Formats: sequence, structure tokens, C-alpha cells
Amino acid sequence: MARAEPTARWVYAVAMTGQPWSPQSWRRRRAAQQPPWPDEAELERVLKTLGALPPLVFAGEARRLTTQLAEVAAGRAFLLQAGDCSESFAEFTADNIRDKLKVILQMAVILTYAAGVPVVKVGRIAGQYAKPRSTPTERVGDVELPVFRGHMVNDDAPDAEARRPDPERLVAAYQQAAATLNLIRAFTMGGFADLSQVHAWNQQFVAASEEGRRYEQIAGEIDRALRFMAACGIDLAAEATLHQVPFFTSHEALILGYEEALTRQDSLTGDWYDCSAHMLWVGERTRQPAGAHVEFLSGIGNPVGMKVGPGIDPDELLQLCDRLDPERVPGRLTLISRMGADRIGEALPPLLEAVRRSGHPVLWACDPMHANTFTSKGRKTRRFDDILAELRGFFDAHRAVGTWPGGVHVELTGDDVTECLGGFGDILEDQLHLRYTTTCDPRLNARQSIDLAFRVAELLRH
Ligand code: PEP
Ligand code: CO
Repeated sequence: MARAEPTARWVYAVAMTGQPWSPQSWRRRRAAQQPPWPDEAELERVLKTLGALPPLVFAGEARRLTTQLAEVAAGRAFLLQAGDCSESFAEFTADNIRDKLKVILQMAVILTYAAGVPVVKVGRIAGQYAKPRSTPTERVGDVELPVFRGHMVNDDAPDAEARRPDPERLVAAYQQAAATLNLIRAFTMGGFADLSQVHAWNQQFVAASEEGRRYEQIAGEIDRALRFMAACGIDLAAEATLHQVPFFTSHEALILGYEEALTRQDSLTGDWYDCSAHMLWVGERTRQPAGAHVEFLSGIGNPVGMKVGPGIDPDELLQLCDRLDPERVPGRLTLISRMGADRIGEALPPLLEAVRRSGHPVLWACDPMHANTFTSKGRKTRRFDDILAELRGFFDAHRAVGTWPGGVHVELTGDDVTECLGGFGDILEDQLHLRYTTTCDPRLNARQSIDLAFRVAELLRH
């Protein structure tokens, strides 16, 4: 992988901004969406504590993800990025982590098997605890409360005390991320993600459904292929790739003090890496070209993502590509489009065209969730059909421009929740309340997720 010399990056930062990048340089710029911490001194004390704790990931792992994402950018692989909208401190159990992993592994198997492309697996997990919000307060009944900003900041319970930002939550988030990542590493490296386990990932409530049966068919074919290889004399036990699955973590880099505290200089290369996750992204609400979030992400060595909504124009997008990936390193920058089912057809093609002409080697992924949200009887929801329509629009736009539809970015859970409408189980508006447990945006349940993977595999094949 091409790597920036620290000096080259330094020179570039000075040329672009007049000042060198450092893990703190974001502090000179306006940072949107930062919580109103009641006590700045307490916050700085907590950040100092975090700064002395061990990193959660190793820079070499982040570089390995960049290499895999470069394969996606080149059209030879596909990115599956998935997990909670907002990970909950209350849902922090081994079963919950395992079931989320199961559904992501199932989706990856479907995509790999049915579309024949390697799948890079990245979770919105082990760090996705902070949320940008469209308003600083919300009305609950007849009281106006500070808005819930993710469990890294405050609690979702609807009372003023619970909503007070508490810096100690940053340490709790670090600890939960560490334990989650540890379990993920154990599962994916210790045999749970072994291809011979494909049947075991199909949870009971999924197996009994139409999409569960479709999945079982693929699982059966994989079994047969493995038996065939064994019968041919291939030593399957010695094939590490069948038993261990590279799985990466990601979250929105929102609370910049937290990200700064976990940013460490890699002893091998001298580059700085945000060691809170393998990949970080900047959201639609915080990607101002001159803002603090873009400044922070511009200097870290990790692969980075940026959400791209329908309001952006091609010039601004190219400016952001230059800021976030000045050296044009393949795999470095993932653009995650979130246009809405009814706007993607007209909004995406000019952006694809402009980026293609500029020569930036970006990877394009589709987030079909965030611009298709609406409220039904007080609950945020999304229609499965709108999600599919945006995905179709994404593939159509890439076909028309001649670029590679590189991946999907979705919000899901392994549980049998009723948060998104439609799908095979056909969740109706008056059923949303039955199992609606998300603390933020509505997630696909396991059946809807598997259904979605089959649809994406079909789009990839055609
Ligand atoms: C998110 O991914 O949860 C999110 C808030 O997305 P966006 O920035 O695209 O609105
Ligand atoms: Co969300």
C-alpha cells in the first residue's frame, strides 16, 4: 500500500490550512454537534485518563483494511458495513453481540456465494455510541428535554437528569468497546465464524421463514463444496481462510475529544492512527470542509468514510475528496451516499461522474437508510421497499456512469425487532410498537437483513 511519509502529510497540511495537522488541530476549528458538557474541566480530566489507556486497535490492522478497501475501490470486492444506528449500553450482552455478528456473517455468505465477490466485513460496532441530532432539544409529552446524543454522552430515558451529558460515559464507552471488540475477535478468530458453522448462524426465528430457507439452501451447497474439496484430498483444517474471518470495526467520529484521546503515533511508520476503531466516518451533519471533523479525519492514517447527501454539489465533494485523501490512496476514502429513494436517480450520477473525472480512487457505498426515514404514530421508521428502491437507484446510477457500486451501509440488529416496515414478514404500521427497542433510528431485523442481502446479490449479478 502506498503510504504517506509524515513529512509529506505535514507539508500538505501546512499548504492547505496554513498550520500543521496534529491530533489536537481540530480544536482550532468549529466543531458541530459537540454536547454541551456541563463541566469542561471534568471533561478534560476524563480525556486525559482516556489518553493514557491502551489503544483498541493496532495501526497495522487499519492498514490491512485500507488494502482490502482498495480491492473494493478497484471493483474486485464488495463492502458490507452494518450494525446498530446507536449501540446501547443497556443491550450490552454476549448474545446481542453474537446475534449481530451472525446476521452480518450470513449476509456476507449470501453476497459472496450468490454474487461471487469477496466481501469486506465492517461492523458499525464496538464504538458506535454517539449520535448527531437535528435539534438540541425534543418534546416528550409536555416537557422540553435535551435530546438523546448516544450512550457515550447521555441516557435516553426521558427525564432531564438522565439527559445531562456526563463525561464519565466516555470511559464507559471505551470499556464497552474494548469488551465488544474482544468478543468479536474471539468469535471471528476462534472457530465461530468457521465456514463449517454456516448452519449455526441461522437463528430459529429466521430458519422458519422464507428467507431463512433460501439461506439454508446456500448453506447446504457450501457444505457440499467443502465435502467435495475434502474428498479431493484438500486439507481443510489447514486452510486458515476457512476458519478465520477478518472483521473490522467502525463508527462515526463525532465526539472529537474522545477520538483525539485514542489517536496514537504508530511506532512502525510514525503516522497517527485513531485507534478507537479500524475505520471512522464523518456524518452528513459534520462534514463542513473547513470544520473540525474534516480536519481531524484528514490527518489520521485509518481508512475514512464520508456520508454524502443530496444537498452536496460536485465542487464541494471534490474539495472534500482533496481534503480527506490528498494523496489519492486507493482504499483510503469511502463515500457513503444517502440520497433517498426518490432523489438518488437525479442526485447521484453527476457526483459519480465528477469524482470519476477527477481521478480520485474512492469507493462508493450506498446507505439506503438515512434519507428514507419518516415518523409513523410517533415512531421513526423506514419502508423496506424504499430501502430496496434506493439500492436499485444506486446500482442503476453506477451502471449508467460506468463506476463500481462498491458496497452497502445498513442499520440492523440480530433481534426480531419491529422497527422497519414491510419485508417478507410484512411488518405493518400498527405493529411497530410490538418490539421497537432502538434508542435512535429503526433497524432492519435479522429476516429483513437476510432478505436485503439476497436482493443486493441479485443486483450485483446483473
Ligand atoms: C448514521 O449513520 O447513523 C447517521 C446519522 O447518518 P447521516 O450522517 O448520514 O445522517
Ligand atoms: Co442512524
